[in-house]
Order: sequence, then C-alpha cells, then structure tokens
Amino acid sequence: MAAGGAEHEARRILEIAEGFMKSQVLFTGLKLGIFDLLDASADPMTAVSISEGIGADTDATKRLLDACTGLGFLRKLNADNETEDGKYQLTEASRMFLTTSSPTNLADWVGHLANLYGSPWADLPMAIREGPAFSTHRGLERGKTFKDIYSTTKGFMGAMEGLPTVFGAKTASAFNLTEFQNICDIGGCTGPLAYHLAAAYPKASISVFDLPEVVKVAVARGPDDEQGQRVSFLPGDFFHDPLPPADLYVVCRILHDWTEDKVLTILTKIHDSLPPGGGLLVVEHMLGDDKTGPEVAHKYDLLMMLCTGGRQRSGREFQRLLSSVGFQEVTIRRTTYPFGHVLARKQRV
Ligand SMILES: C[S@@+](CC[C@H](N)C(=O)[O-])C[C@H]1O[C@@H](n2cnc3c(N)ncnc32)[C@H](O)[C@@H]1O
Repeated sequence: MAAGGAEHEARRILEIAEGFMKSQVLFTGLKLGIFDLLDASADPMTAVSISEGIGADTDATKRLLDACTGLGFLRKLNADNETEDGKYQLTEASRMFLTTSSPTNLADWVGHLANLYGSPWADLPMAIREGPAFSTHRGLERGKTFKDIYSTTKGFMGAMEGLPTVFGAKTASAFNLTEFQNICDIGGCTGPLAYHLAAAYPKASISVFDLPEVVKVAVARGPDDEQGQRVSFLPGDFFHDPLPPADLYVVCRILHDWTEDKVLTILTKIHDSLPPGGGLLVVEHMLGDDKTGPEVAHKYDLLMMLCTGGRQRSGREFQRLLSSVGFQEVTIRRTTYPFGHVLARKQRV
C-alpha cells in the first residue's frame, strides 16, 4: 500500500474507533439540555451563563461547548477575542433537529439512541456469540416485542416520530400512489408518516392502525391542521385483530422487528385483507442484495439483533417473502437514506 494510502486507512479506522466520542458529545449536549436552553434564549449565551443554566461546572461546560462547536452543532461568536468571552448560539440545523420544540425534532430519537449506547450495544459481542439465545438471555419474550421494548411515554413516542417526520415525504413520493383511495399505515404509531401521505395524496383516505395504548396517545397529540384531521386512528393488534379495510397497506419499520415466521404471518394477513390489485408498501432500512451496505441498514440490523430479535432484510429477501405469500409485481427502490421501499400487489382480476 502506498504511504499516503496507508495513512488514509489508519485514519479511517481510528475515526470509526473514536466515533463513540463524537456521539457522546452530542448525547451529553442533549442530555444536559444545552440545545433547548439556547433555543429558549433570545440572545447568544456565554459559557458561564450556559453552565449556570444547566447547573454544571463552567470550565467543563466551556470545553463541551467548544467540542459541540467543532462538530458543527453550535456556532461560537467572538471566538478569537482574548479579552471577551465567546458566546454560543445554535446553528440553523441544530435549531431544526436538536431542539425538542421543533416540529422536525430528532432530539428524542437521538436521546433514544443515547439510552441504547451502554446496554444493549455494549452487549454486542455476547449477542454475536449467543445468536437467538441472546433475546432469551435479555428476558425478551418471543412475540412480545411491544411489551418488552416499547413504551407510550412522550419521549419514546417522540423518538419514534423522528425519522418518519423528517424523511416521510421521501417515502410518500417513492412511488406514485395516486390510484389508491384508502391507505392504512399498519403500526403507524402516532402518525408522522400518515401525515406525509395525507399531504401527498389529498384525495385518499388515510388511517393508522396500532395498538390501543398507542392510538390513545396519538389521538391526544395529533396535529389539528387539515392534514391531521384527515388521518383516522384505529386501535387493534395486527396478530389478533382483523385489519381495517384498505387498498394500500404500509408497513414502515414493522417487519424488521420480527423473525421470519411472524413476518410471514403479518404479510399473509395483509395479502388476505387486500382487494385484487391492492398494494403493500414496505419501508425499511433495506440492505443491498450482497449485504455489503448501506451502512445505515447494517447499523439497524445489529440494533434489531440486540433489541427485538428481528433483522433488516435485502430487496431480494423481501421479493422472496412477498412472493411466497402470493404478492406479485414486486418493485424495489433501493435505500436513499435512510429507507428503501418495496411496492407489491395482490393479483389483479
Ligand atoms: C418500530 S415502531 C414503527 C412505527 C412507525 N411505523 C415508524 O416507522 O415510525 C413499531 C410500531 O408497531 C406497533 N406495534 C407493535 N406490535 C403491534 C401489534 N401487535 N399490532 C399493532 N401495532 C403494533 C408499535 O406500537 C409501533 O408503533
């Protein structure tokens, strides 16, 4: 290997190894409430006033703020002035994505990832050694994913909303779905993707089907605008209850929670519930067929191994699963960060 190439590779390896330090800077900024504090302030703030605001040591806070600035989460004014303290303010992106008052907040999702950082991520070597036994080891009951890992707290629901809120418009336009009149988002949580579908398809009727405890929260916090009012929330369990009638079902980040037998149960139920020619849109962090990427799908594949006993799948695997329960015309759109999309149809008459 040429000297420059070797140095580049060494640096690439070290940057990956040190990546957790960057994550911790972000997690700590969020956990200590720095982004929300700056969001609430009319003016840029000094390290002294920020440290007072979050009840922390001033010098340590200053070093964290500078690290946040270096990573592009904050902007520092007067950075070169030796006589006056620098002042910190949010960047436009941080205000948009890292503050909990923003409608496009990813803060709850990042906070959720922060909670996974110790356990279960630290248990990855054990999970690899044990395989499926790891889920039992962690006390996860097979088929009880919701009970084991979900919660209806504001933070958890907010975390689930993050990615579909920010990227849902891409999902709504991944295929032209105008022919479908009745779209049901199965396991659609509090409806962030459904609101994008309502905006993109003004003539369609849009529903979300989720567990009763989730629907209760969704109805309480749903937006009051025109899009919000077009989405109805229907309670039920996709393993035990009939699905609401629809000519297009959507499953976004549902199949990755489950092992193949459960996935086949869900897909069969959807297929049986569709009219001839009806569609199914699968939205997942989809792996390439050779499984060498994309990186986002590998990360969530391992996360599913750790948290649910499920997995991310490739387009070819979706093709096989969908065909095996009778779907036809399977069209795959590979991952454009963060999701890939598959549209399949029940046989037309
Ligand atoms: C990973 S979240 C995905 C939420 C949403 N589709 C998204 O992509 O943000 C899984 C969703 O499935 C719902 N869910 C889990 N088990 C369910 C069941 N048996 N019946 C109906 N919904 C269920 C959960 O409440 C949760 O909203």
